[in-house]
Amino acid sequence: MSHELMREARELLDKSLLYYQGRPVGTVAANDPDMEALNYDQCFVRDFVVSAIAFLTEGQFEIVRDFLLVTLHLQSHEKQMDGFSPGPGLMPASFKVEHIDGEERLVADFGEHAIARVPPVDCCLWWILILRAYAKATGDWALAHQADFQEGIKLILDLCLVHRFAMYPTMLVPDGAFMIDRRMGVYGHPLEIQVLFYAALRAAKELLLPDNNGDEYLEAVKHRLGTLGYHVREYYWLNLQRLNEIYRFSGDEFGQEVANKFNIYADSIPPWLTEWLPENGGYLAGNLGPGWMDFRFFALGNLMAILISLASEEEAQQIMNLIEACWHDLVGYMPMKICFPAVEGADWRIITGCDPKNRPWSYHNGGNWPILLWMLTAAAIKTNRQEIAQKAIAVAEERLGKDCWPEYYDGKNGRLIGKESRRYQTWSIAGYLAAKDLLANPANLNLISFDENPEFIPS
Ligand code: GLC
Repeated sequence: MSHELMREARELLDKSLLYYQGRPVGTVAANDPDMEALNYDQCFVRDFVVSAIAFLTEGQFEIVRDFLLVTLHLQSHEKQMDGFSPGPGLMPASFKVEHIDGEERLVADFGEHAIARVPPVDCCLWWILILRAYAKATGDWALAHQADFQEGIKLILDLCLVHRFAMYPTMLVPDGAFMIDRRMGVYGHPLEIQVLFYAALRAAKELLLPDNNGDEYLEAVKHRLGTLGYHVREYYWLNLQRLNEIYRFSGDEFGQEVANKFNIYADSIPPWLTEWLPENGGYLAGNLGPGWMDFRFFALGNLMAILISLASEEEAQQIMNLIEACWHDLVGYMPMKICFPAVEGADWRIITGCDPKNRPWSYHNGGNWPILLWMLTAAAIKTNRQEIAQKAIAVAEERLGKDCWPEYYDGKNGRLIGKESRRYQTWSIAGYLAAKDLLANPANLNLISFDENPEFIPS
């Protein structure tokens, strides 16, 4: 059954190709014949990440190269200070090919057309990671070393390393700046962006040349990696021991040397958490800022933190322990839950702005997303817990093909096909292929993973 499913997935991935000047340059987000396309007929940069991994592991290098060229060309260079234009360095959320008077034109969307109108902060970070994966898979580092690519990387770094108001090494972003691209209370310093930021810095360190002031960037990157890594490991980490510390924190302390650095009040610990956390498990909290720790579990941030060694080895094992112990909540009938738990009632009204698509246990608000299967598989391989990957893939194989590769599933345990979910969603298809490829060839993990940063500042 698995062979047939893989064959089907490969065929569908080929059908999702987006052509420009006769060459495939990306994959469309979905190919559902029964639903209005909206912008799902465009190539999303973040969605293409998993297509890229599937292509690279299967030796289809050209398309990834062409995607990188096209998107580099679409990167914003806007210098207008009108406040309405995308800042220099930003990569689009998605792009399409328009046919005007018999001519093809690439059109980028920086979030000004997309339904929720949010800026895609994650896309420029993912872009650097795709560039590195391409270089590692092909050995073609010359592409990244071209002057225009070096310039593109530096523009991204300028945008990300700029001083902002908050005095943390983490990056301050608006709500919905990543895969969760609608209001979901993920503004400020969401884990997912911090993890991608860290990964992009690690990749930039490998890709940047020292000439043409590259050495200054490399120095800045090295420094930020140390402080960012320390900050996330030290302050986002949550397990029973840490929860006990937070529970017994005193609040409202004054001065530099305080234990409760973010002035978190013990009463903000949600009641579900103390029962839910297993003895041997832990995870990185969803967000952290002044007086605020978001205790929700976010899958992408935690899985990527394992892959890129932002989580220490011990923490990585604890995250996998948590997933294993809370399997029904976090994996259920489809790997895996985007975040846990859902926000409900008055919280849902205030946090999502009454978003009907993000009702409790649906879509971004606690839905199950097959795309996350490849990350779960990769994290399981990285932590030497292959049996978790095998079990998760087996769960996915039960339904993915039968249900026509939905975008997401609903319900506490992901038992229902998502209410407004598209079928033939490309990253569900590519995610399955990438998961199978990684399990068969674990060496390919190095396309997207990083070892411990040698310059990590130990706590
Ligand atoms: C939805 C998802 C977003 C994805 C897009 C295309 O907007 O929230 O993460 O990139 O669909 O699949």
